[in-house]
Amino acid sequence: MQVYEIKKDIYWVGAVDWLVRDFHGYSTYKGTTYNAFLMFDEKTVLFDTVKHNLCSDLVHRIRTLTDPEKIDYIVVNHVEMDHSGSLPEIVDLVKPEKIICSKMGHKNLLAHFHKPDWPYHVVENGETISVGKRSITFIETRMLHWPDSMFSYIPEEKLLISSDAFGQHLGTSERFDDEVDQSELMYQAKKYYANILYLYSPQVRKLLQSVAEAGIEIDMIAPDHGVIWRKDPGKIIKAYEDWSHHRGTKKALVIYDTMWHSTEMMAKAVADGLESTGVSVKLLDLSVNHRSEIVTDVIDAKGICLGCPTLNNGLLPAMAGFLMYLRGLRPAKKFGFAFGSYGWSGEAVKHMNKAMEDWKFDLVHEGIRVKYVPTHDDLKKCKEVGQLMGQKIIESLENQE
Ligand code: FEO
Repeated sequence: MQVYEIKKDIYWVGAVDWLVRDFHGYSTYKGTTYNAFLMFDEKTVLFDTVKHNLCSDLVHRIRTLTDPEKIDYIVVNHVEMDHSGSLPEIVDLVKPEKIICSKMGHKNLLAHFHKPDWPYHVVENGETISVGKRSITFIETRMLHWPDSMFSYIPEEKLLISSDAFGQHLGTSERFDDEVDQSELMYQAKKYYANILYLYSPQVRKLLQSVAEAGIEIDMIAPDHGVIWRKDPGKIIKAYEDWSHHRGTKKALVIYDTMWHSTEMMAKAVADGLESTGVSVKLLDLSVNHRSEIVTDVIDAKGICLGCPTLNNGLLPAMAGFLMYLRGLRPAKKFGFAFGSYGWSGEAVKHMNKAMEDWKFDLVHEGIRVKYVPTHDDLKKCKEVGQLMGQKIIESLENQE
């Protein structure tokens, strides 16, 4: 099977998952890759494995280069099953001298595989081990995005093997950033950040700062998903810097669900108002837009408008599910506004306002409720609130400059 030499004597031996379309609620319509790397030195080191169903791809790629029993160390940068699912089979095959992991990695490996007799070697944050001419420094990245997560850095190669960070769910036959369409690459990297790392933005900021202060030289970032950043690793570091600071842009979203199109009419009027101020708007009907794509837009939108009619004193299920998903990702630093039609009780706006208050959004209006079907005057009011939000977005961005 095809292997790729990413640096002298360091090979990509992972697997491409062309079939996966859902990753615990995240739509992966481009598939993904599970990247594993094999480094030859005085010690032979395998970094990470792959999802269980693709284990044979990994084994055949390793066999293309060496006998698996010649591998000395297996590094587990992250215990989640898409990277460790093949570990029991690989450990049986390789019989490694050491399974290298963080302290939390050790705990989590035990809790996943129940193998107390495996040859664990727990490394501390910042610890360096020699593997011959080269060394590996382990950098703990707790909660990026699991407690066990860590990076492996090979200083002699300026190579950062970054686990899930800087990854993309992008299944391709290309292995490097300069070989794929740049807008697709950055969209998938942003989607990955929005759905996996957004809630850990404070940890991302801290990590980027500590890497910069330590003066770690990086000329290649090899994440566990998608393509390897060899041409321009600075591009993804800069993007993470922007996303993790919640730097909004001149952009607003009108996210809604509708029953008999009344809330949809209101959504269009709000979008009109925003558009008239020069703010870029996306009108996102929850029945046709996947939640994981909407949150990709949320990360650089400065304004969020939520529209939903009332159903049984609550919200329509698509909006309720979306708010639950978004709540877990902890959006911050945005303007908010809620609206919706109702028949007799009308609690939907209250529920959406509550969600946005919990996220400390700056609500530009107390919310608009319309009984059954909006009149021309109701729509005029919706448009005016859209305009108000647009002006606030523009002012706040000017003050930020
Ligand atoms: Fe790609 Fe957190 O696993």
